[in-house]
Amino acid sequence: MPVAEDRSAPPRERRLSLWRDGLGTGAAAHEHRLLSAARPALPVLNWLGQFARPLMKVPRLGWITADPHTARTLLNDPEHLTLLSEGGVGHLWAQILGDWVYDLFDGPGHHDLRTRSRELFTEKTSATFVARAWGPRLAAARASFEAGDELDLADLSRVLVGQMVVQLLGLPVDDSLGDDAYREIFATGEELASIALGTTSDTTLPPEKIAVARGIVERLTGHIGEVFPTAHPDTIIGRCREIGLTVQETQGLSTLLMVAGTETAASAMARTAALLVDTGEQHRLLAMPQHREDAVREALRVTSPAPLIGRSVLADVQVAGRTLKAGERVMVLTWTANNLAGPYRIDRPYLPQNRQLWFGAGRHLCLGGPLARAELGAIVDLLLGDGRPFQIVSRRYGRKVLIPAYASLVVRKSEAA
Ligand code: HEM
Repeated sequence: MPVAEDRSAPPRERRLSLWRDGLGTGAAAHEHRLLSAARPALPVLNWLGQFARPLMKVPRLGWITADPHTARTLLNDPEHLTLLSEGGVGHLWAQILGDWVYDLFDGPGHHDLRTRSRELFTEKTSATFVARAWGPRLAAARASFEAGDELDLADLSRVLVGQMVVQLLGLPVDDSLGDDAYREIFATGEELASIALGTTSDTTLPPEKIAVARGIVERLTGHIGEVFPTAHPDTIIGRCREIGLTVQETQGLSTLLMVAGTETAASAMARTAALLVDTGEQHRLLAMPQHREDAVREALRVTSPAPLIGRSVLADVQVAGRTLKAGERVMVLTWTANNLAGPYRIDRPYLPQNRQLWFGAGRHLCLGGPLARAELGAIVDLLLGDGRPFQIVSRRYGRKVLIPAYASLVVRKSEAA
């Protein structure tokens, strides 16, 4: 069992046994090591989280919760909680991008931006983005994989995500470099995100980090001003223009997409593959292909690639019988909240209390959810589309990365079907 569930206890009393089989070879053990390699404090925080139901105060960290209901209450309360002051990602971005972030990321401009960008990623546009950005590369990977070649899925995920960035942002790319061009784009996004590393307890950036981050943003979005008037509506830039966003809004949104949708998506892709093998659920999925969408949803739940969401308290507020004071910090432990429901099962019914907490909740609910699902669906098809199982040849966990992920996950079709 990957993450054993104590079914004899009432749901509120369920505990993660992740720590008990942390030294084993099952899915939970690998996920545990993956989280530790990324940030050693993460498994500790996740473990602590199981006691944070509904809410717990931790010295120097602030409030933590792993209760889905409390998490949703907090994330749906923009009057008392913000991501813009110290402790939230918005505060990071304001230092890098400028004060306009305060309006666009969490102020009145945010509501307007979200309303107008609602149609950017629908099931339909997402499927089109995946087909356009990945079609040829996925077809090539699938052909060699099905022919018996080894495939490093972690590396391929980074290449694919780089290709998606190029597709979405209409970024100029040197095709002669092949996969390396896309690896570099992914690495640039990673570098930008890594600026947030070490900011779990303090989101004030030193001037040198701000300067580096600004350089990266310029590299990624500097072309937008020029291409904005003519960008094809198939790209996000073109679509942003068509829905009436300004150049500045489009640059801000593009930066957000880069940061929010690259590492998270790549992390989910390789971890989904590992889960399918480590839990043996790939065999059940092959026998019950109608659970493809559930298999993707479950993978998002169990991996929860954005394991925590930070906010700051703007004004005193009562939540779950406790008083959160202005200036305090709050952390929603999405990984724990989602994993307490039990191990990866492709036929686990939809969990109404969790909904899609792996994508957050409330006004900042992930904008790219449908795209992430379409991407993961395409990866499942790559891995199991020919009806044959696969195995893991080797794996390496990413060290000191913001989003826990495999550095390498080499897979191969199993000898016997
Ligand atoms: C498995 C993949 C993904 C996961 C787990 C994920 C998770 C999340 C979470 C938890 C948030 C909320 C953050 C908060 O409340 O502070 C978020 C926001 C966001 N995500 Fe995703 N994300 C994923 C993929 C993507 C993709 C593919 C895109 C687009 C290319 C994307 C775009 C965004 C944007 C723009 C926001 C900010 C929304 C706002 O502030 O209004 N994400 N994501």
